[in-house]
Amino acid sequence: MKVLVVGGGGREHALVWKLAQSPKIAKMWCAPGNAGICLERLSSNGEPVECVAIGAKDLPAMLDFAKENQPDLTVVAPDDPLALGIVDLFEKNGFRAWGPNQKAARFEASKAFSQDFMLRHGIPTSASGTFGDPDEAKAFAASLNGRCAVKADGLALGKGVLLTTSIEESDGAIQKIMVDKAFGDAGDDVVIQELLEGMEVSLHAFCDGKTAKLFPTSQDHKRVLDNDEGLNTGGMGTYSPAPFLNDEQLATVGSAIIDPWLKGCAEEEIDFKGILYPGIMLTDSGPKVLEFNARFGDPETQVYLPRLENDLVDLFEASIDGRLSDVELNWSNKTAVCVVMASGGYPESYPKGKVISGLDEANALQDTVVFHAGTKQDGDSIVTNGGRVLGVTAWRDTLTEARDAAYEAVSRISFEGAHFRRDIAAKAL
Ligand code: AMP
Ligand code: GLY
Repeated sequence: MKVLVVGGGGREHALVWKLAQSPKIAKMWCAPGNAGICLERLSSNGEPVECVAIGAKDLPAMLDFAKENQPDLTVVAPDDPLALGIVDLFEKNGFRAWGPNQKAARFEASKAFSQDFMLRHGIPTSASGTFGDPDEAKAFAASLNGRCAVKADGLALGKGVLLTTSIEESDGAIQKIMVDKAFGDAGDDVVIQELLEGMEVSLHAFCDGKTAKLFPTSQDHKRVLDNDEGLNTGGMGTYSPAPFLNDEQLATVGSAIIDPWLKGCAEEEIDFKGILYPGIMLTDSGPKVLEFNARFGDPETQVYLPRLENDLVDLFEASIDGRLSDVELNWSNKTAVCVVMASGGYPESYPKGKVISGLDEANALQDTVVFHAGTKQDGDSIVTNGGRVLGVTAWRDTLTEARDAAYEAVSRISFEGAHFRRDIAAKAL
């Protein structure tokens, strides 16, 4: 079969790497892809994966490409095209596309929608309010003594959340999002949540509209510096499984959240086919949902897929066809660790075009893959082309071995200004 993958970051490299192992795929494109994705080859016939220079948000160009090349399956990874309705558009034109439709993608595209949905359906979350008026928002934040998460309602490249611990800070955050429009229209409305304390974990569930199959646990590291200091980022590293929930606790947490969510979707006629990725805080008073994402996490995908034993094509097809109840997800017992190498300056402004060396040496290590995120080919060199540049991933029998192996691979790679956290997975050790 012929497969088109939409997106071009580390998550998409992990998806392409895993899909390329499927004996069912004879041709694969990735739009726009990156330098690492174009180096992947299909295990069925040795053909290279072809990168196509179409931006993930350019829906008309994506559809034209599909009409010309007739993919049998299109896998949509990033949030933006999902929110724009790419799955609806492809289906209307007779193409099979995997990912939530536009209505279902609202779980991520509107934090206000998600928060209201959780209240309607009794899903545990933090005390919160949604506001279109800055003064009302400030008054609510003040009622929480300024200890809150101030969130732009819409999509903001994962950066639209400001955590505050005083009224001065919460006033400033509301001003920045609603009045100064630091995240554009995404900040017309804000969701203000009480600041929760506890251990944060990521859940993922494969969904087909009726059934949700939970993945094992993983944990991301959102802050840019060691010890969870510094600015929030898209994610600086992950590992899976995370030891804070055993299988039984995971199932309990899952059903406290996923069961009412599925029931709510049925009641509101939301046909969610894709990955539901709730961010969860394990608080003293139980697990609480911080947010819903409607896609694979990045860099969670980089540690999940090396552990997944199923053919990913089968899972996408079962999700589209509503057959997930017949499918069992199989995971290896290995622990995987991903360390993100970022450009100097990230998550603020950073230069591009720095030559990356040592990629082959790192990739040559056993059970180790360097997933590319912001990279591009420049003549004979691979150069940096984004904030998060690489997701260096290794899997081993134990967490300590996996962590050491990932950092061993990181030590072989260099580019000017590169920085990474040195404490990925440390919380679990
Ligand atoms: P979000 O994009 O909504 O997941 O928020 C980004 C990050 O901000 C999360 O991964 C948490 O680390 C943090 N965060 C979000 N909401 C809260 C909250 N209510 N309490 C504490 N931390 C939060
Ligand atoms: N790991 C953070 C995200 O994908 O939003």
